[in-house]
Amino acid sequence: MSTSNNSIKQDRILVLDYGSQYSQLIARRVREAGVFCEMYPYDIDAQRIHDFGAKGVILSGGPESVYAENSPKINDAVFDINVPVLGICYGMQAMADRFGGKIEASSHQEFGAATIEKTAQDSFFKGIEDEPNKLHVWMSHGDKVVELPAGFEVTAITPSCPIAAMANESKHYYGVQFHPEVTHTLQGEALISRFVHQICGCANAWTPDNIVEMRVAQLKQQIGDEQVLLGLSGGVDSSVVAALLHKAIGEQLTCVFVDNGLLRLHEGDQVMQIFAENMGVKVIRVDAEERFLTALAGVSDPEAKRKIIGKTFIDVFADTARELSGEGKGIQFLAQGTIYPDVIESAKSHQGKAHVIKSHHNVGGLPDDLQFKLIEPLRDLFKDEVRKLGVTLGLPEKMIYRHPFPGPGLGVRILGEVKKEYADILRQADAIFMQELEKSGWYEKTAQAFAVFQPVKSVGVVGDGRRYAWVIALRAVETIDFMTARFAHLPYDLIETVSNRIMNEIKEVSRVTYDISSKPPATIEWE
Ligand code: XMP
Repeated sequence: MSTSNNSIKQDRILVLDYGSQYSQLIARRVREAGVFCEMYPYDIDAQRIHDFGAKGVILSGGPESVYAENSPKINDAVFDINVPVLGICYGMQAMADRFGGKIEASSHQEFGAATIEKTAQDSFFKGIEDEPNKLHVWMSHGDKVVELPAGFEVTAITPSCPIAAMANESKHYYGVQFHPEVTHTLQGEALISRFVHQICGCANAWTPDNIVEMRVAQLKQQIGDEQVLLGLSGGVDSSVVAALLHKAIGEQLTCVFVDNGLLRLHEGDQVMQIFAENMGVKVIRVDAEERFLTALAGVSDPEAKRKIIGKTFIDVFADTARELSGEGKGIQFLAQGTIYPDVIESAKSHQGKAHVIKSHHNVGGLPDDLQFKLIEPLRDLFKDEVRKLGVTLGLPEKMIYRHPFPGPGLGVRILGEVKKEYADILRQADAIFMQELEKSGWYEKTAQAFAVFQPVKSVGVVGDGRRYAWVIALRAVETIDFMTARFAHLPYDLIETVSNRIMNEIKEVSRVTYDISSKPPATIEWE
């Protein structure tokens, strides 16, 4: 648990996770409201709850039934610390149960949009509405509170849920059956802001400018006059780490950019331009294309490819680090772009036994002879916060809001064996697709889009001649969380322009297809 007593983290909210798919969203909304929070499993012990120093607690939703045997309960410490508590969905039911209310399975389960009617003007709801006395909210529940606990009053109803919200004003305990954290609840942001600011009394201190200032001061103190090494990939996270460290320690930072031959068109040059030329960051560019392609020769299994790319990256990086140390640079610290969802997920995965579909986190540890101390300046930040920090630090928005690019790069977008010839064709096709998406305004409307190289040949006709050449697939998806995705419904005209340009401008391609698979059952990447 964080022990930082830094002033912008002083007003803090504790989010306890009961397993809802929306739990992380609660924490993100609190942060967006300008208040620091951390999320922990509901069963952390009482001491940690006391030590956290929360000005308010939010209990998330969850899949369990309160009346089931061994259902998750609320630790009494939550109420002992005498701060306001907001229970959402299961959190409300668990709170009702704790104070003697009654919860039952609904005969009418509610999933989706609903309209609640306020029955009281308590300090949580007062003045917040979509139409007189009504709010349009998002419901997702099978159980409901059917008898209020002592000291609470009903504050909102729906026709099928007579206790849609409840409050104990004197204690500042509030419960809502709906989900204020999802954007479908139109006033969700206003309600969360009301809870953390007016009810819990937190200041609006968690802002990008303040975060940068705090982090730069912390990094200066932590690093002193030592040297730091960072693997720069050109992705958002490592770029923001580079910008932060550069601001904090300037010349003491050395970045290593590994060009593995599996990058997008001109990507290496762009990274060098932004960091080395414009920002004056010390970046060593390692041209390792041949090393990667040699390691990948003859390998066509996707997981084997991922492992080889991950391992080769570590080898190249470690060699460079050794060379730098050998030059007497005496590097002490290794910086990494770990972000808060990685921390939450890795804590969860220690408990779970999830089936491995793809080994996404393919970067292993460094060899034993390289013993760096780790710095992870983004460890407590969500992706959207990292992006805002990037903008504050002056990184180009185009880089910050770029679609995600997988660690193994084009290596998993060339089906089967990876060859330089294929990578060169794919890079050109991908660049044409991106240009047209940007020109038409569709780049921002899709979460991820790219081209995929198919190692099969197809017959085409060019002029009077026959062309027997490769196939390129286009993939574009809409998704929020990348766990599920729908193929993007791009306009036919746009697909036509892209396809014509690819076949006309790249003579090695005779056919273009558009991938119309959603996830599940497909995945976003083809491998
Ligand atoms: P899938 O293909 O699993 O992709 O639906 C979900 C998201 O993860 C990205 N992805 C990866 N990222 N290393 C990464 O860093 C990987 O091996 C990897 N495989 C997939 C993918 O681009 C999408 O955003």
